[in-house]
Amino acid sequence: MNQEADTPIAYPRVTSGVEGLDVMVNGGLPKGRIVLIRGAPGMGKTILCGQFLYKGAKNGEKGLFVSLEETREQLIRELYLVGMDFRRLERDGLVTFLDASPVRHIPAEVKLGNISVGKRDFSLLALAKKIKNIAEANRIERIVVDPLTALTIQYPEDGERRLMVLDLLEVLAQIGATCLMTEDFGTPQSSRIEDYSVHGVITMRPVEAGTNIVKTMAVVKMRETKNDDQTRLYRITDEGIVVYPDENVLALSYPHTSAKSNDT
Ligand SMILES: Nc1ncnc2c1ncn2[C@@H]1O[C@H](COP(=O)(O)OP(=O)(O)OP(=O)(O)O)[C@@H](O)[C@H]1O
Ligand SMILES: [Mg+2]
Repeated sequence: MNQEADTPIAYPRVTSGVEGLDVMVNGGLPKGRIVLIRGAPGMGKTILCGQFLYKGAKNGEKGLFVSLEETREQLIRELYLVGMDFRRLERDGLVTFLDASPVRHIPAEVKLGNISVGKRDFSLLALAKKIKNIAEANRIERIVVDPLTALTIQYPEDGERRLMVLDLLEVLAQIGATCLMTEDFGTPQSSRIEDYSVHGVITMRPVEAGTNIVKTMAVVKMRETKNDDQTRLYRITDEGIVVYPDENVLALSYPHTSAKSNDT
């Protein structure tokens, strides 16, 4: 029997939680794959991740928020301010927070009795195991890792950093959930193995337009799909991120909209 004939060629998609971004990637993010969001500070990476989990949860898809920087309380407060009640989702068992921020404070070597264990073996593998256990026990379909930078910054040596990232990506891929990971622009391009290993890369950048600073989003890569080849404008509103998929960024001003926003 020809097994290949039974394999669906087009992969299924899931909503990113942001309508305009779904348009940019031709219908949604690839289900079960890992997408990297690279953005400047304060561009709304965490809010985008929140929307991804929130929209999924509203469709009955369970999510896991692995936070490497902010506490659960901080995240719940910030996301509530842009229209998302995660406390309720957590209570309903639709979202789980894993506060992994202490991982950042583990020293380069950890002593276990007389044995010295490298940071990579200790912190990352423990974290990966925890993510896997929670995901399997709760049938998690969406995972956020925010920000990956908090982990990678601990590995100044390129080779070690690459191994660490590959280990983490491997675990996430095994779980089979759709994943969003965030990162800033700080890492030199030469050592960014993640760009090659993930399914998609989306960037979020500020652009100066006269006295205004506008926010722009671009799909740098999304395997197996036709992407928007234009950089698009977006804004953060009281209801979260809104992308304008029909506005060319060269307009450098937002279309007239009734959406309330405090970033103008
Ligand atoms: N209601 C709102 N309207 C407009 N902008 C908002 C609103 N709430 C938050 N913001 C903006 O959202 C940004 C913070 O979003 P978020 O925390 O998701 O960014 P980030 O990219 O994750 O930042 P960091 O690099 O610090 O992790 C801030 O720049 C803030 O001004
Ligand atoms: Mg953030």
